[in-house]
Amino acid sequence: MNIRPRRNRKNSVIRSMIEETNLGVEHLIYPVFLVDGKKQKTEISSLPNNYRWSIDLLLKEVESCLKLGINTFDIFPAVDDKLKDVVASYSYAEDNFYLKAIRTLKESFPDMVIMSDVAMDPYSSDGHDGLVRNGEILNDETLPILGKMAIAQAQSGVDIIGPSDMMDGRVGYIRSALDKSGYADTSIMSYSVKYASAFYGPFRDALNSAPKSGDKKTYQMNPANKREALIEAALDVEEGADFLMVKPALCYLDVIHLLKEQFDVPITAYNVSGECAMVYAAAEKGWLNYEMAVAEMLLSIRRAGANGILTYFAKDFAQFQKK
Ligand code: PBG
Repeated sequence: MNIRPRRNRKNSVIRSMIEETNLGVEHLIYPVFLVDGKKQKTEISSLPNNYRWSIDLLLKEVESCLKLGINTFDIFPAVDDKLKDVVASYSYAEDNFYLKAIRTLKESFPDMVIMSDVAMDPYSSDGHDGLVRNGEILNDETLPILGKMAIAQAQSGVDIIGPSDMMDGRVGYIRSALDKSGYADTSIMSYSVKYASAFYGPFRDALNSAPKSGDKKTYQMNPANKREALIEAALDVEEGADFLMVKPALCYLDVIHLLKEQFDVPITAYNVSGECAMVYAAAEKGWLNYEMAVAEMLLSIRRAGANGILTYFAKDFAQFQKK
C-alpha cells in the first residue's frame, strides 16, 4: 500500500494540523426566551435547560454568556394570550415589554448583538406568521404589519432583523421600510429557506404560538425540495438580505451546502428546538454523550457551509470549550 490515510490520523498533533473545519463561540447565536414580569425563570418542559426569563434575570444570564464569549443573542417574546389579536398589534405597541427589554439590554451591554424575529406568530391570536382571513394566509396584506414590527424593533436597538414569516417579497418590503425610517444600518438575516418542519414543536411550546388551525405548509417550504431553495435565496439576495438562513439545520445540511456554493453572502443555519430536544432527551437517558454529540452536530453544520449557527447549545458549548 502506497497510500495509507491512517498515517494522517496517527496522533492528535497531526490530526489537528490538518483539520478542515473550525468551530468556535464566535460562530454561535444564542436564542433565548423573554417573558414579562420580574424574577421569572421557568423551564420549557419540551426544551430542558432553556427558560423563559424576565428581563431582570435575563440581564444576569446575558452577562454570564458574554463572559463566555457569546456575543449574539436572538430574543423571542412569550406573549400573554390576552395581548394577542388577529393583526399582531402588540408587536409594535408603545408599551411592549419585549421592545422595552431590548432597550434595557442595549443600554446595559452596548456591545452585545441582538437579533429579533419578524413574523406575526408570537403576537397573533391565530398562531400564524401572516394575516389569516377565511382560513387563508394573506401575503401582501401581511407585509405592512411586518414593516411596522421591523421598524419598532430597529428603533429599540435590534441589530439584526430576522424575517421568519416566509411571505413573498418581505425582505424587500422590510429593507425599504427600514431605510425610509433611517435604519439603513440595521441588518437583515432572512429565514430564506425555512421548511415546514416537525422540529419546531418545543419552540411553539415555549411561546404558546402553535397555529390554532391548519398548518404552515402554504408558506413554509416542502422538505422534499432543494431546487426551490435557490429561488428563495436568489430573491432574498436581490431584495437586500445580508445573510441567508437555512432552517432547520440537521435534516438540511445539503441545502446549507448548496447555498454556500451558489451565493456569496454569509450563510447561517438554525439548529432548531426539536433538534436540540432530541439530544437533551437521549443524553438524559444516558444514550449519548451530551458534550461529544453537541460538538459533532455543530461541527457538521459548519462543515456543510454555515458561517453562523443559531443553537440552544451555545452556552453549554462555550462552557465545554472553557474547560
Ligand atoms: C416563528 C419561528 C419559529 C421558529 C423560529 N421563528 C417557529 C415556526 O415557524 O413555527 C422555530 C425555532 C425553533 O424551533 O427553535 N416564525
